[in-house]
Amino acid sequence: MATVASLQTHLVEELADLLDAEDQLTEALPKLARSASSKVLRLAFQKHLKETRGHITRLKQALRAIGEKPAPKTCKGMKGLLQEGETVMNKTPEGALRDAVMITGAQKVEHYEMASYGTARTYAEVLGETTIARLLAQTLREEKGADRTLTQIAEKSVNEDAAEEWQASEEEGVLSRSAEWAGSAATSASRNLASGVRRVASAVGMVDGRRSTTRRRGSRAQRSPRSRRRTAAKKR
Ligand SMILES: [Fe+2]
Repeated sequence: MATVASLQTHLVEELADLLDAEDQLTEALPKLARSASSKVLRLAFQKHLKETRGHITRLKQALRAIGEKPAPKTCKGMKGLLQEGETVMNKTPEGALRDAVMITGAQKVEHYEMASYGTARTYAEVLGETTIARLLAQTLREEKGADRTLTQIAEKSVNEDAAEEWQASEEEGVLSRSAEWAGSAATSASRNLASGVRRVASAVGMVDGRRSTTRRRGSRAQRSPRSRRRTAAKKR
């Protein structure tokens, strides 16, 4: 591994890293656009794909401007973010919830890029590389714009739609659990009916003393006259 001996070396490495990151994104964005259920989200991914191609052009210009060949260096950060996003996306059913999942992944990517472009732009400024600083600042503005667009799409519709989708499936789950419960409850209800009737009969004094031992202590009206007299004596 080459030593990072100066801020200029670091800047060159960052540019090469970003070049690979953007290459990876041009592979991922078409799949995200195809998978989006929301039309505005699909258009946002397609728009950012076009912008990303422009970012690659600017990075190549920046590397040439600093006297380097525009060769990409594997960006492990972007690889990890895209893999993680794809894993979650693949296990989410199509719809608003999957749109929300894709927005999560895409915004993580945008913030990673914003951090990389922001710091690289500042290093270019410090090193007096004004052309490179200008190119990176242009791209940084577009990354921030893409991030804002994703936030707006999420807040205007996707998040609430995703929440309703979850509630709908929860309700379906509750209904099917209720149906199962109703089936078993019907069986036990018929079993309990006889004893329930006996309890009521006992409460109104229609059964003999053996059943009265299971009577619950209830209201004054449910208690026997003897019990009421005992309670009244205690109070005095
Ligand atoms: Fe980009």
